[in-house]
Amino acid sequence: MSKKVVIGNWKMNTTIDEAINLVIDLKEGLGDNSTIICVPYTHLGVVQEIVDDRIAVGAQNLCQYENGAYTGEISSQMLQSLGAEFVVIGHSERRTHFNENDETVNAKIKQALLSDIVPIICCGESLNLRQSGEYLPFIEGQIKAALGGVDKKAALDSIIAYEPIWAIGTGETASADQAQEVHAFIRKLLRSLYDEETANHMSIVYGGSVKPSNATELFQQKDIDGALVGGASLNASDFLQIINAL
Ligand code: PGA
Repeated sequence: MSKKVVIGNWKMNTTIDEAINLVIDLKEGLGDNSTIICVPYTHLGVVQEIVDDRIAVGAQNLCQYENGAYTGEISSQMLQSLGAEFVVIGHSERRTHFNENDETVNAKIKQALLSDIVPIICCGESLNLRQSGEYLPFIEGQIKAALGGVDKKAALDSIIAYEPIWAIGTGETASADQAQEVHAFIRKLLRSLYDEETANHMSIVYGGSVKPSNATELFQQKDIDGALVGGASLNASDFLQIINAL
């Protein structure tokens, strides 16, 4: 069965002091639950030192190359050496603002896997594609490209995040039915790319304006295994309520 998980994506937010306070608040309210937080590169070391085994730490990006003369870039090995266990790859904000494409996304996934870091692979359509009705073939293309050359063993523990671009940071969430339709489609696609076991084992989480008020309905859907949470993950109380909803 697929693992249920709520993942925080802090994006380019928090100073180091704010990050420490947020982690302290999360630890206080987490109880028996667990979560993953994807923090800015600069916070990885400090956050890793103060979390306990209920909180796994991830990054939000990595370089598609292994090492060498790539000024300003961060490699999968560097992330691994700081204890990062997860990395967000192919977020629409990176595709839009930093020219990432299906090819770089695939290369980054392979780099992550080389260092035993679990990729959280993002896909999702624009508003135009949603309105044109062409969103499912588009998402199929993104996932096929992302997973090209990724074998079953590596795919099994990878996480897919379906994040419709029109719902990210807009306050507008896909309805539970809209999200479930795409999640079921992705599950079926994974079955055809790999097999039944892989499709059932992989977590498919939803992202896009997830908040305490809509989390429960989303999580009740058969193929929604959790959430990738942006804005609401910066508020400990909201984030904890979403985790509780799961
Ligand atoms: P949001 O972001 O929850 O602020 O919409 C989600 C994401 O981009 O991962």
